[in-house]
Amino acid sequence: MKRIYIKTWGCQMNEYDSFIIKKVIKKKIKCKITKKYKKADILILNTCSVREKAQEKLFHQLGRWKKLKHKNKKIIIAVGGCVANQEGINIYKRAPYVDIIFGTQTIHKLSNMIVENYKTRNLLINTKLIGLKKFNYYSYKKQTNIKSYITIMEGCNKKCTFCIVPTTRGKEISRSYKEIILEIKHMVQNNIKEIILLGQNVNSYFYKDKKNGYICKFSKLLYKISEIEEIQRIRFITSHPKDFNNEIINLYKKIPKLVNFLHLPIQSGSNKILKLMKRGYNIKKYKNIVNKILKIRPNMQISSDFIIGFPGETKKDFYKTKKIISEINFDNSFSFIYSKRPNTYANKLLDNTTLEEKKIRLHKIQKMISYQTMQWNRKMIGTIQNVLVHNKNNNFSKKLIGTTENNRTVCFNGNENTIGKIVPVKITKMKRKYFEGNI
Ligand code: SAM
Ligand code: F3S
Repeated sequence: MKRIYIKTWGCQMNEYDSFIIKKVIKKKIKCKITKKYKKADILILNTCSVREKAQEKLFHQLGRWKKLKHKNKKIIIAVGGCVANQEGINIYKRAPYVDIIFGTQTIHKLSNMIVENYKTRNLLINTKLIGLKKFNYYSYKKQTNIKSYITIMEGCNKKCTFCIVPTTRGKEISRSYKEIILEIKHMVQNNIKEIILLGQNVNSYFYKDKKNGYICKFSKLLYKISEIEEIQRIRFITSHPKDFNNEIINLYKKIPKLVNFLHLPIQSGSNKILKLMKRGYNIKKYKNIVNKILKIRPNMQISSDFIIGFPGETKKDFYKTKKIISEINFDNSFSFIYSKRPNTYANKLLDNTTLEEKKIRLHKIQKMISYQTMQWNRKMIGTIQNVLVHNKNNNFSKKLIGTTENNRTVCFNGNENTIGKIVPVKITKMKRKYFEGNI
C-alpha cells in the first residue's frame, strides 16, 4: 500500500485536476492519500504559474522534498501542472531528484508513469497538449454534499499580453455537451443541487458534433443544464467580457436557475491599459454589459479580477480603476500586482512604477473593495434571501447551514428535510464570516 501526498497550487481548475489525479492513481495503484508529506512514498506537486515567482516557489518546495528523498531513495517525486508545461526538462536540470514531469493535459497518464518509474527509475516526461482525454478517466468532483464543480472547457484562444495560460493550457477545447450532461445527471443521483461550470473562458464554450454537425454554444449548454430538474442553481467561472454577448445576457431572463451573482473580470478601469493588455473591450462596452444585465436582474452582484501596476499604469490610470470599482460597486473581488510572466508580450513593455508604489495602490483598492463588500453585506440584513440548504450545522447554535445566491453562508433553524432545497430566509444578523436568519 503506497502513501500518496498531493500538493495543489492555483485555481479551482487545478483543484479539479488534482481530484482526477487521485481517482486515476487509485484505479491503478494500491494506495491511500495522506496529508502527511513526511510519511509519503509518492509526492506529487500540481503547480500553477499564473502569478508569483512560480519557478522559485517550485524549487523551494522541491528543496524540502529533496531532504526526504535523501533519506529514502525509493520516494517518487512528480511535478505537474502549468509550471511543468512551461519549464519541462528544465525542472529536472535544476532538481535532478525529480522522477516524473507531467502536464496539464497528461494527468491521466501519471499512474502509468509511476508504475514505469518504479521499474526503471528513469526520468519520465510527458507535458504534451493532447486535448481533453483526461476527462475520460474519472467520475466527478463532489465539493460538498450539495454543490459540485465541472470543467466544461480548457485552454484559451485569447492573447492577453500578461497571461501565461494560453502557453500552459493550450488552445481552447470544449468537452462534448453530451458528456457534460451525463456527468451532471450522475452528480444529481448523488444529491448535487448546485453546479459550477469551470473554464478559463467559460463563455467561449463551443462544441461541434463531428458526426452530425450539431453546434452547442455556451447559451445552449446552459439551457440543457437548466432542464435537469434536480439542478437548482447554476454558476460559472470565469467569463470574458469580450464574449459576453446579448444571447448570454438574455439567459438571465429565461433561466431563473442562473444565480444573481456574476464574476466578470474587468482587470483595469483605464482604456489605455485595457488596450495594452489586449483585452478586446473598453470601459464603455463593459458598462454596457453590466447595465443590460441589471435591467433584467436589478439585484445582480458583480465581482472581478484586477491587475494593479500593469506596465505603463500611471496614477491617472489607477484613479480610473478606483472609479470603475465604485461605479460598478463590485462585490468580493480578486486583485493582484502585475507579475511578469515568461514569454509574454507585456514582458517587453516599459514598467517604471516601483514595487512600493504598486503595493500602495493594491492596498488602496483592496480596502475599497472590502468596504463595498461590507456594504453589500449590510444591505442584506432584513432582506429575504433564497438559501440553498447544505447541511446540518454542528458548529453553531443554529441548526442548518446554507448559501445565498451571492455566495454568503447563512445559519438558521429549520427542519432537516429542507436539506437540498432552496428556502426563503430572512437575514437577521451579520457575524464575521456568516449571517444568521429565520426561515
Ligand atoms: N480568462 C479569465 C479572464 O479573462 O478574465 C481569467 C483567467 S486568469 C488565469 C485569472 C486571473 O489571473 C486573471 O483574471 C488576472 O487577473 C490574473 N492574472 C493572470 N496573469 C497575471 C499576471 N501576469 N499578473 C497578475 N495577475 C495575473
Ligand atoms: Fe489569460 Fe486572457 Fe485567456 S487572462 S486565460 S489570456 S482570456
